[in-house]
Amino acid sequence: MRAIGFTQHLPIEDKNSFFEFFEPKPTPTGHDILVQVQATSVNPVDTGVRRSTAGVLPTPKVIGWDAYGTVTAVGDAVTLFQPGDRVFYAGSFKRPGTDSEYHLVDERIVGHAPTRLKPAEIAAMPLTSLTAWEALFEQLAISPKDPASNAGKTLLIINGAGGVGSVATQLAHLAGLTVIATASRPETIAWTKAHGADAVVNHRKNLVDEVHALGYPTVDYILELSNLNQHWAEIVALIKPSGHIVSITGNDHPLDLRALKQKRATFAWEWMYTKSFYETPDMLSQHVILEKIRQLLDDGQLKSTLTKTFSPINAANLRAAHALVEANRMIGKVVLTNEN
Ligand SMILES: NC(=O)c1ccc[n+]([C@@H]2O[C@H](COP(=O)([O-])OP(=O)(O)OC[C@H]3O[C@@H](n4cnc5c(N)ncnc54)[C@H](OP(=O)(O)O)[C@@H]3O)[C@@H](O)[C@H]2O)c1
Repeated sequence: MRAIGFTQHLPIEDKNSFFEFFEPKPTPTGHDILVQVQATSVNPVDTGVRRSTAGVLPTPKVIGWDAYGTVTAVGDAVTLFQPGDRVFYAGSFKRPGTDSEYHLVDERIVGHAPTRLKPAEIAAMPLTSLTAWEALFEQLAISPKDPASNAGKTLLIINGAGGVGSVATQLAHLAGLTVIATASRPETIAWTKAHGADAVVNHRKNLVDEVHALGYPTVDYILELSNLNQHWAEIVALIKPSGHIVSITGNDHPLDLRALKQKRATFAWEWMYTKSFYETPDMLSQHVILEKIRQLLDDGQLKSTLTKTFSPINAANLRAAHALVEANRMIGKVVLTNEN
């Protein structure tokens, strides 16, 4: 089968930063399904893994963590899917990625694909939807289906227009929260408002002043999606006593968690790969979440966040998509597709 990979970290403009090669088509066993990939997206995790590759690898590394495709074979323990099913999923951090013609994935982290959207619109969604869903409804423990109980509760989303923020804003709005999201350019501000933010503040200015100017001294929840160290002091100042904070990014230098003690605010991490990485007992919950996302997309309650499409899936287009994500100015998602 055809695959796209790299053996060393080169500038993305270098034509050897990604190259095409052939490798054996895998055979599914156990809970694995084999998927013919028709569309895949690029996330910051792809650029991060590429950037952190030291030296020269002995064999090409295949990355890519979002797919829409067709099941072509299933392992002997598979119960959720059969050949011919259309699926979407984000995959596992430990396994080869979706930048290949065929891809093996555990059925427990896969959903049936939406039926009313185009392949590229579908491939834009799994990784960011799983991250946003788990952050809001598992780590922040917000109820996804009781808007009345969430009415009047405030959520600050730091980075509203990126891939995850564009889904989180929509899901939080559907859950009945008052959503304050951050964006800094006219186009990201407009996009964020169009995706359910009640108010938009500028993360290039002081977020404490910006949120206070809206009339909110503090907020009930904070979802951090950009740069935890940069925004930490603002987060500490803005969280309500007994409030809840979740971050999906990380910190380059230590965080002062003591700063939250007096407010007895909680802090949680979200890592979309945790369940598949550790094969946790609740790994199947990613299948369940993706089935809910499919329903919301087919019902039109959730909009695909696709903004840029490259076709076909090849090394040149993958380099172009990576260059966009590396620039850290993405609005929504960029997808590569073989099927329009
Ligand atoms: N833990 C997990 O499971 C998980 C999952 C997905 C992503 N992530 C991580 O989460 C982060 C966001 O991912 P993404 O795909 O949503 O990102 P993205 O699409 O690349 O985000 C791009 C956006 O970031 C905004 N931005 C740039 N600098 C900012 C700053 N200093 N403060 C706030 N916003 C800023 C920009 O808005 P303006 O142009 O308006 O400034 C731009 O629209 C990445 O670090 C990614 O690696 C983690």
